Amino acid sequence: MDLPNLTIGNRTARLPIVQGGMAVRISLAPLAAAVAREGGVGVIAGSGLSPEELAAEVRAAREQTDGVLAVNVMVAVRQFKELVQAAIAEDIDIVIAGAGFSRDVFTWCHEAGVEIVPIVGSARVAKLSEKFGASAVIVEGYEAGGHLGTDRPMLDLLPEILDAVDLPVIGAGGVVTGADIKRVLDAGAAGVQMGSRFAATVESSASDAFKQMYLDATEDDIVIVKSPVGLPGRAIRNPFVERLERGDVPRIERCIACLKECHRDYCIIDKLVKAQQGDVVNGLVFAGSSAARIQDVPTVKELMERLVEEFHAASSEDASG
Ligand SMILES: Cc1cc2nc3c(=O)[nH]c(=O)nc-3n(C[C@H](O)[C@H](O)[C@H](O)COP(=O)(O)O)c2cc1C
Repeated sequence: MDLPNLTIGNRTARLPIVQGGMAVRISLAPLAAAVAREGGVGVIAGSGLSPEELAAEVRAAREQTDGVLAVNVMVAVRQFKELVQAAIAEDIDIVIAGAGFSRDVFTWCHEAGVEIVPIVGSARVAKLSEKFGASAVIVEGYEAGGHLGTDRPMLDLLPEILDAVDLPVIGAGGVVTGADIKRVLDAGAAGVQMGSRFAATVESSASDAFKQMYLDATEDDIVIVKSPVGLPGRAIRNPFVERLERGDVPRIERCIACLKECHRDYCIIDKLVKAQQGDVVNGLVFAGSSAARIQDVPTVKELMERLVEEFHAASSEDASG
């Protein structure tokens, strides 16, 4: 069995693999362009960037590929509108909106002929997304890295989302191999979104120290933390997470009110940027539960080829077993 294409509205990717948007500054033009070039959907994370910076990343990625490119912006970010509009002005193919629900984004995208794909954690929000004109939905389960909108595993949520909507449904959370992709497609998904696996690639803009945290992590090291966004998040235990667990959180030194609502326990952007830049002691290293299964840092090309091979191997095992 071959991997199917993934069609989202008027855009078709050769492979049903969406590289998850990863803020802050982890999935930028180099990663997104490499994924799109290899036939997947490359996603630039906009949260934590200025609209001008996001526009420049979209432009840089577009110069490198005519594959399918998306931006991911958290609805919770104060500059949500400006970021989405900056990406639309650069002719982005798809806008992916997570961490909240926005009605307006449907209007902006429809007017511009851009596909809109919300990230959902329930059948109710999936139905609402369909009603407003989503081109697909991403179902993110509890295994995922970053902020979490549900406490249920992806394969547990998927059937009810498939029942609720007549749209392509993309499964996210816990997918790192071609065999994992097969399991999710066999369960009825049109594609997968993979974050952690792409964070540990050569083209990811995470620091080497960040990638090394993934290589060294065991299952016990991957924990849930409280984020000031008001959602739990999944990250790798480090001295900063230990301080959080003890309630010994560092004071916010500078606030630019980047989120619509912030609990201000600590500055999430500052902590994510620190980790991205290599301070994995004081920064926050977001990672999915399956980061413990990641053992190398391949190029995107090597990874995509491996995923396809693993998918074929899992398909022939199924056929012979
Ligand atoms: C380092 C990191 C940063 C992330 N940042 C974002 C983000 O900015 N917006 C978002 O919607 N999801 C974000 N995610 C979630 C991913 O896009 C993806 O859905 C998730 O990682 C899938 O789970 P996996 O890591 O098990 O593959 C992030 C994940 C990671 C690991």
